[in-house]
Amino acid sequence: MTTTIAITGKGGTGKTAVTALLIRHVMRGGSVLLAVDADPDTNLPEALGDTVSRTVGDIREMVLEGLPPDADKMLVLESKIYEILAETPKYDLLVMGRPDGPGCYCYANNLLRGIMDKITKNYDLTIIDTAAGLEHLSRRIIRNLDILLVVTDGSRKGLLTAERIRDLAGELDLGFKNIYIILNKVTPENRESLQKYASELDFEIAGTIPFDSKLADYDLDGIPLIDLPDDSEAVTEVERIAELIGI
Ligand SMILES: Nc1ncnc2c1ncn2[C@@H]1O[C@H](COP(=O)(O)OP(=O)(O)O)[C@@H](O)[C@H]1O
Ligand SMILES: [Mg+2]
Repeated sequence: MTTTIAITGKGGTGKTAVTALLIRHVMRGGSVLLAVDADPDTNLPEALGDTVSRTVGDIREMVLEGLPPDADKMLVLESKIYEILAETPKYDLLVMGRPDGPGCYCYANNLLRGIMDKITKNYDLTIIDTAAGLEHLSRRIIRNLDILLVVTDGSRKGLLTAERIRDLAGELDLGFKNIYIILNKVTPENRESLQKYASELDFEIAGTIPFDSKLADYDLDGIPLIDLPDDSEAVTEVERIAELIGI
């Protein structure tokens, strides 16, 4: 059985940082892991210290435009996806790239959905770093989410977006078993009120990650977050979160 986790939340709240640190944790435990960057902004490879040259968005366009009408598009798309899957010793990485172009991708997205269902079955765990918006939830290229992690920072907007994501996720019936909020970049000053607001929104809090100046420095200096030391405050808290959600 494969477990699928999506990390979502408002832009800039720390989705990619949390994703990278969850991956850091999982890859040390030996699970067979697929990391998916579903944010068109594509920041996850950098946080992991990887470079990826082609995205699912690139090949989707090629398959839609460049194939003869009688070609088995699903088969071609699937084999191309395996080609662009970046394999590392610890995990595989797939970058989704642009969600939309000038045309309508409904058909391609339907194909992709079936292919992703198949691909994720090869892994113990799939961790998806998502875009700030909510569209990816409604497009549902990856189905059967098990755990939805909603990241917020100490801003009102971050909390409101978290609430909206939770509501939309419920309406879309994404089938996830658990939803948690993660409070990130928390300071001693806002810790208590943030936890109170999150509880008032009826969220189960998976963890409270402090503002970690080492993490911020790594990010600014372009050092992969996955290389943060064990004693980084953010790393320590993400370890706790991983334990709580059972990965
Ligand atoms: N716990 C943290 N402590 C300090 N800085 C953080 C923390 N989490 C994230 N950041 C910083 O916040 C910014 C946004 O984080 P990022 O993970 O890119 O957000 P998102 O993926 O949600 O857009 C980055 O500059 C990152 O270094
Ligand atoms: Mg990001």
